[in-house]
Amino acid sequence: MVIDSQKLKKLFLDFFSENEHSLIPNSPLIPEYDPTVLFTPAGMHPLIPYFLGQPHPLGKKLANVQRCFRTGDIECVGDSSHLTFFEMLGSWSLGDYFKKEAVSLSYDFLTNKRWLNLDRKRLSVTVFAGDKDAPKDNESFEAWSSAGVPDEHIFFLGKEDNWWGPVGNTGPCGPCTEMFYDTGKPACSPSCRPGCSCGKYFELWNDVFMEYNKTPAGCYEFLKQKNVDTGMGVEHTAAMLEGKEHVFQIGAVRPIAKTVEELAGISVPTDTEERSIRIIADHIRASVFFLGDERGVKPSNLDRGYVLRRLIRRAIRFGRLIGIEKDFLNDVAEVVINLNEFDYPLLKEKQASIFAELRKEETKFKNTLEKGLRKFHRIAENSATIDGRNAFLLFQSFGFPIELTQELAAEKGIEVDEAGFRNEYEQHQKVSAASAKKLFKGGLSDASIETKKLHTATHLLNEALRVVLKKNDIVQRGSNITPERLRFDFNFDRALSPEELAAVEDLVNKQIRCSLPVVREEMTVEEAKTRGAQAVFDDKYGNTVSVYKVGKFSTEICGGPHVNNTKELGVFKITKQKGIAAGVRRIRAILTNPEEPKCK
Ligand code: ALA
Repeated sequence: MVIDSQKLKKLFLDFFSENEHSLIPNSPLIPEYDPTVLFTPAGMHPLIPYFLGQPHPLGKKLANVQRCFRTGDIECVGDSSHLTFFEMLGSWSLGDYFKKEAVSLSYDFLTNKRWLNLDRKRLSVTVFAGDKDAPKDNESFEAWSSAGVPDEHIFFLGKEDNWWGPVGNTGPCGPCTEMFYDTGKPACSPSCRPGCSCGKYFELWNDVFMEYNKTPAGCYEFLKQKNVDTGMGVEHTAAMLEGKEHVFQIGAVRPIAKTVEELAGISVPTDTEERSIRIIADHIRASVFFLGDERGVKPSNLDRGYVLRRLIRRAIRFGRLIGIEKDFLNDVAEVVINLNEFDYPLLKEKQASIFAELRKEETKFKNTLEKGLRKFHRIAENSATIDGRNAFLLFQSFGFPIELTQELAAEKGIEVDEAGFRNEYEQHQKVSAASAKKLFKGGLSDASIETKKLHTATHLLNEALRVVLKKNDIVQRGSNITPERLRFDFNFDRALSPEELAAVEDLVNKQIRCSLPVVREEMTVEEAKTRGAQAVFDDKYGNTVSVYKVGKFSTEICGGPHVNNTKELGVFKITKQKGIAAGVRRIRAILTNPEEPKCK
């Protein structure tokens, strides 16, 4: 018998009930107590207070199905696995059992005939290899080994693969152990192993051992109690159990994509059409759940409403791309509601208002979409970048969320001046920085002090890379800054060695310790170039440009904003590097607060 997503949810809840776990409700998508997170990103999120020691009214062993939404991967939607909205199966021990029992429960559910009955021989697992923050997880290794997993199917991996949390910058987190199923596809290389993204190993489940609390200083302290937090993606696992290639083919999602195909009159989609169909299906599915949430969201230019608006408008644009001319959101929304009304009866109850909101947003946007697209193409034809003024014009007059403009620009290989857009927004709206910040929280970086600090750190990083790698032609190929982290793309054709990364960090931290002033000057582009200023896109600049100098270390043409002195930054730390295209690398980095006490 095929296990579809409905059956999977039932089996999971039955299994944990039999094992004395209380079933807890599926919380709304809009978190109740955490104003720093827009949407529930994981089943564990509503439980954070209980990891910290607050007693849960239903006991110490819990399980549920939880609606989740993650914006982080929105650009990846359209491939075979990403969804913005998804359901997660979760089970928890709040200071009750720990690694051995968690592993034994997971193994039983996955392989026992009464439950998923997966082939034991095809199962492999990863466990945490240990680092300066936490030791190697031998206890999980032993637990898997005694459960019956052969040692050669147990892999030790580092923090990038086997650590989960915290949500945001601080809070409960810990090493995790992940379970994988061999699909039988050939290995992509001799080093192919669970965790490899080639598709051979299918990720089934994640057991997180939440025994640490990450402090604002970046230290890992023990929590009062040892918790277990497990999470299994419903759609993702159902795809494997239903024998489907991807999540858009499963019973719970396929009818949505099929309706989109019919509306577009497409029977055999090309790859590009398939991507559009998946984006529309995902975004309308998510929008229906937002509008039908207990703490419902409506499209707007602020916070959650902005994310919803962005999803709806993106769906409309991709609808136009595949030739859907008429209003179509409600036709697709109806399918979403019918598919989910059993588990989410509120969607049916709210159907009329869901339809009304979607219709309102569709009417508003479709009137300006065509004109806006024409305007965009005219701007893009004459310029190598979309400046802040034009990005704002597209937003203000044509309702283009900045991310839509960025996406259109990326399709043409050009950039958008996001900082310039923010400045225009603040000036034209005559809004306070605080209200602007609210808009930007919806998906943009903001104008907060944290963002400013990371922006200044980005200038230091840019220069430090040229110095350490001894390559003067390194230039910025992209940058994205949120209050939590910076992301910097640059031209370089290999991974940086650990020594090079450490040297870059050291050089940046040295500039920070030197308390360098950050000074803005206006000058002509020619003058800026003569002074050796870094520039990202020559063509975007007018006659006079603003140039930010960080001491004598860095000079860049830039719209700001920045801090006044590097001493405000804290401690610079690179958290990740990877290649994102041929000859282009990406670095992520954070700033931590040096005033915090040292980790114990
Ligand atoms: N919280 C863990 C996850 O989302 C289980 O993967």
